[in-house]
Amino acid sequence: MNEDLLHKKTIRMVATLVVLGSLSIAALAQARSESVDAAGHQWWQNGVFYEIYPRSFADSNNDGVGDLNGITSKLDYLKDLGVDAIWITPCFPSPQIDFGYDVSDYLNIDPMYGTLADFDKLASEAQKRNIRIILDFVVNHTSDQHPWFLDSKSSRTSTHRDWYIWRDGKGPGQPPNNWVSVFGGSAWKFDPTTNQYYYHYFYPQQPDLNWRNPAVKETMFDMTRFWYKRGVSGFRLDAVDALFEDPNLTDNPIIKPGRNAFGDPFEKNKYNSKLPEVHDVLRGLRKVADEYNAVLIGETWTADIAELNQYYGKGNELQLPMDFLFTTVNKLSPSEFRKQIAAINVASGWPTFVISNHDIARSYDRYGDGKHNDEIAKLMAALYLTLRGTPIMYYGEEIGMKTTPPTRKEDVRDPIGRKGWPKEKGRDGERTPMQWNSDENAGFTTGKPWLPVPATYKTHNVAVESKDPTSVLAFYKQVLRFRHTNAALLDGDYQAIDESDTNVLAYLRTYKDQSVVIALNMSGTPQKLALAVGTSAKPLVATTDSLARGSKISLAPYGVFIGQIEK
Ligand code: NOJ
Repeated sequence: MNEDLLHKKTIRMVATLVVLGSLSIAALAQARSESVDAAGHQWWQNGVFYEIYPRSFADSNNDGVGDLNGITSKLDYLKDLGVDAIWITPCFPSPQIDFGYDVSDYLNIDPMYGTLADFDKLASEAQKRNIRIILDFVVNHTSDQHPWFLDSKSSRTSTHRDWYIWRDGKGPGQPPNNWVSVFGGSAWKFDPTTNQYYYHYFYPQQPDLNWRNPAVKETMFDMTRFWYKRGVSGFRLDAVDALFEDPNLTDNPIIKPGRNAFGDPFEKNKYNSKLPEVHDVLRGLRKVADEYNAVLIGETWTADIAELNQYYGKGNELQLPMDFLFTTVNKLSPSEFRKQIAAINVASGWPTFVISNHDIARSYDRYGDGKHNDEIAKLMAALYLTLRGTPIMYYGEEIGMKTTPPTRKEDVRDPIGRKGWPKEKGRDGERTPMQWNSDENAGFTTGKPWLPVPATYKTHNVAVESKDPTSVLAFYKQVLRFRHTNAALLDGDYQAIDESDTNVLAYLRTYKDQSVVIALNMSGTPQKLALAVGTSAKPLVATTDSLARGSKISLAPYGVFIGQIEK
């Protein structure tokens, strides 16, 4: 079968599935109207997003791994918390080498997580609660077990040969160039069946798709249509930077002497990352998304805002490229945060804030000092939930879950942790099971959890914190409730106050004649902040011992005060 024919066949197959899917869930796949608020903001600008790592959220069948029915059972919790959209990291069939980021079928659900019927149930239950579903689209690579790759590797003339990147080595035992995988070792793997190397930016089990092949592009675009028709409101696009490689395979420059945790040289990914062609693909994906009023979120690691701006395109690429620059501020430094906020405020699109995710240590202990971690967790919540932009929460952040990395190499599940041990312990620490209650395994499962539950689950869990009005969870709920109803927080401009203060980060959010002040004490000593003469602030949300008297705000160590400005 020639490529064209096969491509047409694939499209037909996808189209049939789409039709079948849309028939069975016709009611669900309603076109959502383009409703905007008074300031013209769309649902994804006002919404609060919440990332769920499905292996670790809730296990309905007690096999030790979370699943879709588990998520469905927690929708009321999410609604009550104040979540408008959940982003579920990959739940498609996968050999789980990279825990789902190695997809072997884009149009189904991994049996470990349930079935398409379970997905439909989740989607319809979520819709009843007005919670949208965002899926994770792994665009750069597939699993090496995907039928496309199995066919691709079978012979040099196979139909899917050109769906991946195959090259001859430089010489016997020598890969085509010096590119190293971000997960360690050469980015090329020799395959003896056809005596060529294939390229993998991540694990060898994650061969890169060849996005220069139009059949790949069209087929992948259709994959998104399938899910939009099934009621999905958007995608988080995985590793978008890595879609294209220099066709001449120019060697990457070495930027400093020495070796990284995997024993590889320090390379700049000049010729295999952030190539301009990426933006053609983003524009294409956006066109499809626009057919469904869907949102595209990008995993966009950038050096600065100028680089981040490129992902908005001319308003025709990603609506929500994640601003990871916030996660590079790893200490409570008002001046550093001020700088980052000022920078993103003049970005060419809507800001997207992230403070934790499944690849980086949790914010709780990244910022925590070991003594005031709960207070600091509230402070960080107040920060990213009151800025102008869309926050993406990470499950467990709202209860103060702690990064808990394995202590022994033999316990590591994430392959990069095994490969890089002990320098690189992998990402298990930020992926531990959600802590629901004080029962065994924190109420996540009655089976053996796939990762151990951190010892902190006795004090930091949903049940215990729901009863404590001073808990991290109670604080998150308060701020989120207020964020959903206060026009200044939803739509207001940002204006820094007292930019020379080295302890307090303070700002105003103003919409029309309404202003809210947010004052965050990033130090361990009490602090004061003076508002403009003649103004005072009525408390809206404040932590213990933080208050306003006249135009003076007093903040307890790591205290938060959020108040309505009155004149
Ligand atoms: C980024 C994902 O967030 C990460 O978890 C994954 O390992 C890589 N992309 C490869 O897909």
